[in-house]
Amino acid sequence: MPPASPERFSNLLADAIQWIAFRQRKNRQAVQDELGYAMGRSGGTAIAYWIYRKRIPAHLDDIENLAQVIAQRGGWENPSNLLAFLEASGHPNARQLANRLLPLDDPDATPAAGERGQPHPFPFVVGPPTLLPRQFFGRQMELKHIFNVLRGPPLQNVAIVGKQRSGKTSLLHYIKNISSALPAQLRPGQFQGWLPESARYLWVFIDFQDPRMCTQIGFFRHVLSQLQIPFPNPCTLNTFIEAVSQQLSSPAVILMDELPVALQAQELNETFWWGLRSLGANLTEGRLGFIVTSQLLREHMVLANNSPSPFLNIFGHLIELGPLTRQEAYELVNSSPIPFDSADIEWILETSQCWPALLQILSMACWTHLEEERHNEDWKTVALRSIARYQYLLNHDA
Ligand SMILES: Nc1ncnc2c1ncn2[C@@H]1O[C@H](COP(=O)(O)OP(=O)(O)OP(=O)(O)O)[C@@H](O)[C@H]1O
Ligand SMILES: [Mg+2]
Repeated sequence: MPPASPERFSNLLADAIQWIAFRQRKNRQAVQDELGYAMGRSGGTAIAYWIYRKRIPAHLDDIENLAQVIAQRGGWENPSNLLAFLEASGHPNARQLANRLLPLDDPDATPAAGERGQPHPFPFVVGPPTLLPRQFFGRQMELKHIFNVLRGPPLQNVAIVGKQRSGKTSLLHYIKNISSALPAQLRPGQFQGWLPESARYLWVFIDFQDPRMCTQIGFFRHVLSQLQIPFPNPCTLNTFIEAVSQQLSSPAVILMDELPVALQAQELNETFWWGLRSLGANLTEGRLGFIVTSQLLREHMVLANNSPSPFLNIFGHLIELGPLTRQEAYELVNSSPIPFDSADIEWILETSQCWPALLQILSMACWTHLEEERHNEDWKTVALRSIARYQYLLNHDA
């Protein structure tokens, strides 16, 4: 095994971030933050520390997570960069892990294998939200409600409220992607006919943890490009509203993740929210709907100046995200390509209390144990340690 090299590790990490920024036309800070969030942190500070202080993360978990979230964004320009990164980190099984994330003998296997419908090297998604419909399980009741509301006209608006890690972002991606998913992005027999005439719908996903979305111009640019409406010059709140109200001819749904972050943004002021509200309520003849997520209930959401936002009054439908049903949780766990013992499935269902984030972590631990044939290891003890920080989910009082 080559010796660990912090210098090489941080250079390769910086290169991967630069590569994602280039491919996604984002700045490096935004990419760092996104990777940090995907790793379950509150931003990109740790990543900046590893790069600029030339440090290797102290925990193997962090190294593996980092390699995976970068792979999911197509950040390894070629598989040998990933291998070099893992070797530089001193990872004990660098080659095996690199091969699993991006097969080294497949030159085409670089960017975002999952996007192209190829099976993902790991059967469970630990950390980042699920992006592909085939990775998403359950929420049948919630989906029925949401897609009924979106039938319109008029399209109505839904607020999804759930604790941290309850599955809000995964649900938004599923709503946006399921109707147009290709067969390779679905599990065999997976239902996708939720919305009649779904081909007419336009979808805009907004992640307010991306700082560009918390500026008016960044928001307008993103929304207009997704709605396929030309960018007016100058682009102001008034010209944005005029462009959307005059040119939106299809049903459209704006999905906003982490709304409270946007409400606190200085630039997205009360006038901005009034504008969005009239676009949805009056100016688009019922063609525009909003779905927002939040960890907070409406009564706790305020603007930066502490006043309530007028935008919130248009949300007539509230969905509170709890755990999956037992049957839905069973389907997730039972999707493992290596079948689990029924006693292990039972243990995973009980221990996770059917929260999808915990089901994913425990199932991944069980699968890794079987795949690597670590017969002597007590995988349940390790798995329990990994979910210790999610106690707040387990004290759920539903
Ligand atoms: N319906 C689902 N099916 C499968 N996995 C899910 C589902 N919902 C959530 N997960 C898993 O749970 C974890 C948390 O999901 P997600 O990131 O969507 O939650 P969140 O509420 O947006 O979290 P945060 O508050 O941290 O933004 C992810 O690892 C994701 O893979
Ligand atoms: Mg989220």
